[in-house]
Amino acid sequence: MAACGENDESGAVVAEQQENDVLHVVGGKPLNGTIKVRGAKNFVSKAMVAALLAPGVSVLKNVPEIRDVHVVSDLLRLHGATVEWNDEKGILTIDATNVQLADVADVDTLSGSSRIPILFSGPLLHRLGEAFIPQLGGCNIGGRPIDFHLDTLRKLGANVDKEHADGIHITAPNGLHGAKIHLPYPSVGATEQTLLAAVQAEGRTELSGAATEPEIMDLVAVLQKMGAIISVDVDRTFRIEGVKKLEGFTHTALTDRIEAASWASAALATHGDIFVKGATQPEMMTFLNVYRKIGGEFDVTDKGIRFWHPGGDLKPVAIETDVHPGFMTDWQQPLVVALTQANGLSIVHETVYENRFGFTKPLVQMGATIQLYRECLGSLPCRFQQRNYKHSAVIFGPTPLEGRDIDVPDLRGGFSHLIAALAAKGPSNVQGISLIDRGYADFRGKLAALGADID
Ligand code: EPZ
Repeated sequence: MAACGENDESGAVVAEQQENDVLHVVGGKPLNGTIKVRGAKNFVSKAMVAALLAPGVSVLKNVPEIRDVHVVSDLLRLHGATVEWNDEKGILTIDATNVQLADVADVDTLSGSSRIPILFSGPLLHRLGEAFIPQLGGCNIGGRPIDFHLDTLRKLGANVDKEHADGIHITAPNGLHGAKIHLPYPSVGATEQTLLAAVQAEGRTELSGAATEPEIMDLVAVLQKMGAIISVDVDRTFRIEGVKKLEGFTHTALTDRIEAASWASAALATHGDIFVKGATQPEMMTFLNVYRKIGGEFDVTDKGIRFWHPGGDLKPVAIETDVHPGFMTDWQQPLVVALTQANGLSIVHETVYENRFGFTKPLVQMGATIQLYRECLGSLPCRFQQRNYKHSAVIFGPTPLEGRDIDVPDLRGGFSHLIAALAAKGPSNVQGISLIDRGYADFRGKLAALGADID
């Protein structure tokens, strides 16, 4: 599996790309100013897939200009849909009147860069009776298996054929049928898989042990607009009554709470003051509580949230990442950089991914004091207890950071390195910077607007 980027192995081209793929950062300046955050990457990509369910036109608003949106647009086009993109307004128009099976080799060329193709299964099975899923990409932060996805599809009546070198072939000659499904862990992707596949399955589906992230609930809102019947209980059980026909939708995407929190962490780490236009409070409550405990200040307005470092010492904190409404794993990496500047010992117990602390090594080389542990350093033992994964981190601060050359490891880890470079004394070269384009729209422009010294 690739890290987050594309799998190009053609020597010279890669060397040239790498040369142009470096951001030179001179750190030590507070980031001050206003930036705008658009719709959530982890919702928009799924809503785009949902559009494939309906033989008609869907309109998605507040769409960010990020690489994942381009990848999913290309995948939709390969499957016969037309996709029009108005970047200035952030509006995507998808016409899925005609859907066709894509050429296996064409789909495969996109496979190294995204995990979204697996979610095409349900819509393609409903529209065409078959689907092809290439080897999946995505960030290299753990094993990231797809067993829950495939089990769900099997339970709904699909035949899953893994005997092909190029990927997985899935068929449902007799259509999909409602089923009782329980997820062993509240996986975001497997919950979305079930929703996208069960909406048009014949009969009822009950999905227990599901994830209920705000991005998933926004996907449910989209599916409801399309004609689906989906309810959710307080115990995280979805009940889906299959319907025969779905229609196109018009929807405005919820804001990207991961991007908003990343900029909030950047404000804290650089002693800055950033107004994140578009950021909304309800989806960020857990983050805001932690931000306040550390000593960060914020002000919620109708237009967004202002985040700033009020001066004085930051306080250490103990956090455990979890599914919603817990502290998101994707918030963890940028915040760890800010915690290197807090006065005392902070503890972060990562319970969602087994391998999400690789990004701390360069931080240590920049001067941070971070130690990783295999033990669960939290109130509850997690799935990774007694296993060989260093999934707890102890961060001792404050430690001054020194600029250096850094390689971007994954999307969120990469943005964290960028924050560290901006907070550090002296110059840094951040290599592989284009990987951050996967999830942070125009981050170079935003950094420039905030007064960062970048080249
Ligand atoms: C989504 O990934 C997001 N990606 C991730 O964002 C996010 O970190 C994650 O949800 C958790 O919030 C997208 O939405 C595109 P999972 P997903 O299935 O759906 C295990 C970012 O930086 N698992 O909830 O792939 C898995 O290994 C990214 O924006 C299985 O064991 O995550 C992990 O430990 C990175 N078998 C845990 O569940 C399965 O079949 C949670 O994964 C599926 C998952």
